[in-house]
Amino acid sequence: MLTKNVVIAHRGASGYAPEHTFSSYDMSHFDMKADYIELDVQMTLDGEIIIMHDETVERTAGLPGIIKEMTLEQIKQLDVGSWYNEKFPELQQDFYAGQTIPTLEEVISRYGAVNYYIETKAPEVYPGMEERLVEILDRHQLLTPERLTGNQTVIQSFSLESLIKVHNLVPGMPLLLLTKKEVLRNMTDDDLKQINHFVYAVGPSIKDLDQPLIERMHGIGFLVFPYTLNQPDDMTRLIDAGIDGAFTNYADRLRTAFNAE
Ligand code: G3P
Ligand code: CA
Repeated sequence: MLTKNVVIAHRGASGYAPEHTFSSYDMSHFDMKADYIELDVQMTLDGEIIIMHDETVERTAGLPGIIKEMTLEQIKQLDVGSWYNEKFPELQQDFYAGQTIPTLEEVISRYGAVNYYIETKAPEVYPGMEERLVEILDRHQLLTPERLTGNQTVIQSFSLESLIKVHNLVPGMPLLLLTKKEVLRNMTDDDLKQINHFVYAVGPSIKDLDQPLIERMHGIGFLVFPYTLNQPDDMTRLIDAGIDGAFTNYADRLRTAFNAE
């Protein structure tokens, strides 16, 4: 059911390989056996759902470009592996160079019905993104009742509006609300209880997360999966404080930390 000691591979094994590439997902899924592949989705000018953290391609492709103004054909020209070799020479691999930005359909074709934790990124920038996302997931049989009740396809967002849209499209979809530092702490119990009617988990920043806040979220009914839990000391602290899982660039480390408890 994926509710305890849950390891969500943040952009794949992005502590060891270029984020959101098949190398990164292969490592987290096949080698580290993470529970989920985490995917950030954006939409191209021609309506294709692609996997990319930023709204621009500059950081990982080294060229200027705004995704919503680019076609899939233009996106597919880009190399999003070489930057990693240059930035992290100690981790570089020749085969990282030349890797391309995956589409959601390509990810599904490669990994099939594994567990996906999908973030609608900047949904206000991409009208219709939720509908397109749901259409693709449905067409690939990733929205079956068994997968939804088993939390095997999850949608996450910093945008409550986007989660509401997804909920209206797929009422049984497991949803996680991401929150930046201090946001969750400042929300009222009444507001959180309303949200918990259709959102099963919260994803707070690790920056202000502590045991009282985790216990308060559990009391309302949420599971707690913070981001981004990379350092062993933080892992131990937050596992002791009661988290149910986390987003991590180091799925291997987090699994080891959970197993040590
Ligand atoms: O989705 C969890 C975490 O990834 C949120 O932050 O900026 O890495 O997408 P970000
Ligand atoms: Ca994310």
